[in-house]
Amino acid sequence: MKDYILQILAGDGIGSEIMAEAKKLIAWLNSNTDINIKTRDGLIGGASIDAYGVPFSDETLEECRAADAILLGAVGGPKWADVEYTLRPEAGLLKARKELELFANLRPAIVFDALVDASSLKPEIVKGLDILIVRELTGGVYFGEPRGIEDLGNGQRRGVNTQVYTTSEIERVARVAFDLAKKRGNKVTSCEKSNVMESGLLWREDVTALHAKEFSDVELEHMYADNCAMQLLRNPSQFDVIVTDNLFGDILSDEAAMLTGSLGMLPSASLGIQGTTALYEPVHGSAPDIAGQGKANPLATILSFAMCLRYSFEQGDLADRIETAVQDVLNSGTRTPDIMAKGCTEISTSAMGDALISALEK
Ligand code: IPM
Ligand code: MG
Repeated sequence: MKDYILQILAGDGIGSEIMAEAKKLIAWLNSNTDINIKTRDGLIGGASIDAYGVPFSDETLEECRAADAILLGAVGGPKWADVEYTLRPEAGLLKARKELELFANLRPAIVFDALVDASSLKPEIVKGLDILIVRELTGGVYFGEPRGIEDLGNGQRRGVNTQVYTTSEIERVARVAFDLAKKRGNKVTSCEKSNVMESGLLWREDVTALHAKEFSDVELEHMYADNCAMQLLRNPSQFDVIVTDNLFGDILSDEAAMLTGSLGMLPSASLGIQGTTALYEPVHGSAPDIAGQGKANPLATILSFAMCLRYSFEQGDLADRIETAVQDVLNSGTRTPDIMAKGCTEISTSAMGDALISALEK
């Protein structure tokens, strides 16, 4: 028996519905395989603000540190939208990333054959697509100082954020990208705006130096982030691994996600230094407009949990089985509303969770 502790942070909106399906899967694994995952529930985002007055408490942070991994749903909603930044649900997520030093955010964008028609791009452009965005997650303009809004006293205000990176921050995330590329298509595209930003120039120089020193067997290409946004639409299959900063990664990963047809399918992993607790979460948000209606797609959360099995629990075989079961369910034509297509059957969030278990049992 292998024992693991999984800290669950369902968060807001559809978070609790999609997490219920992940828990179903965990219960199934506990009784049908030789792993034993104990789950603990904690609060983050608006749910935490309502209970404790802060979006991510120090007590919950300590519980997360003590766990083997964290599975998160989604945070945010209109109820908490008009408060200052430090008290918004999103601030809880940023605090978790920063405090746990989860500097490498892996966002795979894979087009499942059954969903080729869900993409807004032509099937021949997205068929078989399998790219991985490695987004720097604890630096850059998200955290740079100085920041703030200042009153200039003449009826004008001034808003400031700072884009800042150090060599060690650039090297550690680039190292993750190169290592992952070796296990995939052996190519890394590094994206920045070195044509206009000093931090981007440093990024390019440091990635180039690291490549020459440690990864010269991997193909490296540099690309301006705006060109990358364009190339993702023009010819996405030219990419294998894309490594980029926090802000460009936020934007490019939403774009890459949409190539696959639905944000409801995409998982992510946020990894720190070896031996620290990693966090897994779907790329989509809390979707308050459909919360509580059984319409949410739980597959991104389930695929995030599969990434947890692969990267934190070293259970790659089980992760493979879950990913295959997801494909089987899609091939069978059952769909949540976000990926609904002609000739398919629309099912609810919980029916999708059940369908996945049935596929695993086969
Ligand atoms: C993401 C989200 C977050 C981000 C928000 C919710 C703070 O958009 O994970 O991509 O900007 O990083
Ligand atoms: Mg985002």
